[in-house]
Amino acid sequence: MDIEGRTGLERLASRSHPVCGPDCSSSAGYAAINSICDYYQSIQDRPVKSDVKPGYLLETLPDAAPTDGEPFEKIAADFQSLIMPGITHWQHPKFMAYFPAISTYESMLGELYSSSVSNPGFNWICSPACTELEQVMMDWMAKMLGLSDEYLTISGVGGGIILGSASESALTAAMAARERALHRLTRSLSPADAAQTSGSSTPIPIREQYTQKMVIYGSTQTHSLGAKAALLLGMQFRAVPVSRSDDYSLRGHALREVMERDVKEGLIPFFVIATVGTTSSGAVDNIAEIGKVLKAYPTAFLHVDAAWAGVAYALPDHRKALRLDDVNQFADSFCTNAHKWGLTGFDCSLFWIKDRGNLTEAFDVTPAFLRSKESDAGSVIDYRNWQIALGRRFRSIKLWFVLRSFGVTGFQQHLAEGIEHCQQLASIVNASANFEIVTPPSLALLVVRLRDPLAPNSPDEVLNRLNQALYARLDARHDVMLTQTVLKSVESEVHCLRIAMGGVNTTMKDVQEVWEVIESEGRQVLEEYRSQRELNV
Ligand SMILES: Cc1ncc(COP(=O)(O)O)c(C=O)c1O
Repeated sequence: MDIEGRTGLERLASRSHPVCGPDCSSSAGYAAINSICDYYQSIQDRPVKSDVKPGYLLETLPDAAPTDGEPFEKIAADFQSLIMPGITHWQHPKFMAYFPAISTYESMLGELYSSSVSNPGFNWICSPACTELEQVMMDWMAKMLGLSDEYLTISGVGGGIILGSASESALTAAMAARERALHRLTRSLSPADAAQTSGSSTPIPIREQYTQKMVIYGSTQTHSLGAKAALLLGMQFRAVPVSRSDDYSLRGHALREVMERDVKEGLIPFFVIATVGTTSSGAVDNIAEIGKVLKAYPTAFLHVDAAWAGVAYALPDHRKALRLDDVNQFADSFCTNAHKWGLTGFDCSLFWIKDRGNLTEAFDVTPAFLRSKESDAGSVIDYRNWQIALGRRFRSIKLWFVLRSFGVTGFQQHLAEGIEHCQQLASIVNASANFEIVTPPSLALLVVRLRDPLAPNSPDEVLNRLNQALYARLDARHDVMLTQTVLKSVESEVHCLRIAMGGVNTTMKDVQEVWEVIESEGRQVLEEYRSQRELNV
């Protein structure tokens, strides 16, 4: 709606203002900002979880776009009446499911400015600021996290790029790793075969012959991004078993065993994903052991997925436990999401690699229309050559706004608060008769399970049933939102409840109130279980 209340269609017809110029939509813009502010003023009074039924919107919306443009006032009103009921409020203080996916007003305004200068930024020349701000932000973040200088864009060899998700980062790393492995393999061919491979890329028959044999490794705790990357690349994924006694972290000897078996069968280990902060329990894989195993496999590339926990490297006291030195020493690439715990709205996945040549060898395809004199001179980065897609979002603006407004100190304080909440909750759970902590508290994540204090030696199968019943009760509620998980190890299968703190709007009072809900549902489950048992006796 413009100052005269005209629709987009009417503006196109008259062209008296730029169709998207500032005076066209100022009242709609102010109204949008006001309604967003109102939303955050009252977010704590809403249910966390949407309670609409599947198909609610499909049944309500017209089945085709309107023929004529509609007034923006009506469109904005429909956002409130149709879309809001179907929103689960991830910024709600009692949202403790999955991991936080935080947004802040700095990030939202960054998105707004970014979309106001919308452009696909694939080459430096498309919008030099897009590329150069991203280079600087990736170096700011690398320094704040304590990553080695090899990852810095300013090194001229390594560098960082903002991608859409940790899954995309892992797939990107896997594609770069495949290319590196192919180069290394073709170099080791007989001179006659190697002669056929002169030129930068590996000939298709040789590529096919090798890629069929390539294997990706992770653990049973690796996020599904590992199996997905393998699926997309037409390769196998090995989920190496972990042990409960190692707190579900991947150990070097377990990886070595699986790799040795594969090599005996003629397979080629080429990509290993180690995790810092697994999704189920926040486990940290033993990166030094893994790195040492990989020394025997020149085709193998180590990617560290720290999608959630990686931002916590901003806290120097946590670097040792999160094995930062090992990431710096052994990893070829590293990813953490600013869009999880890092105060920056989705999407903002930060991906670094020690040798940017691994990316350009995999992704640089340059037809004449994509050439520019700056690119030809090699004086600029064209991020299209570092990623799968051509076009890209101008994501660095929101990160720039966040880092400048919070500063390193504010960023650290935010993380420290989430960790403090988790430690306080851990003390509460330790004092409770009906619950136990399953794995050591990891940053702002606590994994607990219901137990029966009257039967302290209950087997896992019984406890698993109790915990499934607990989760079913919690899942039926809309005032809290939590996630269940199953921790699989060589010893056992344990059903438990994840409590993911660290939301920017969450206070200790919210944590306590969520805990009271969990405790009270736990009591109900135990009562029902005991009365059922009595009936059966
Ligand atoms: C350890 C880990 N890796 C990767 C992901 C996936 O992140 P994305 O949605 O950015 O692909 C998650 C999601 O929670 C995660 O916990």
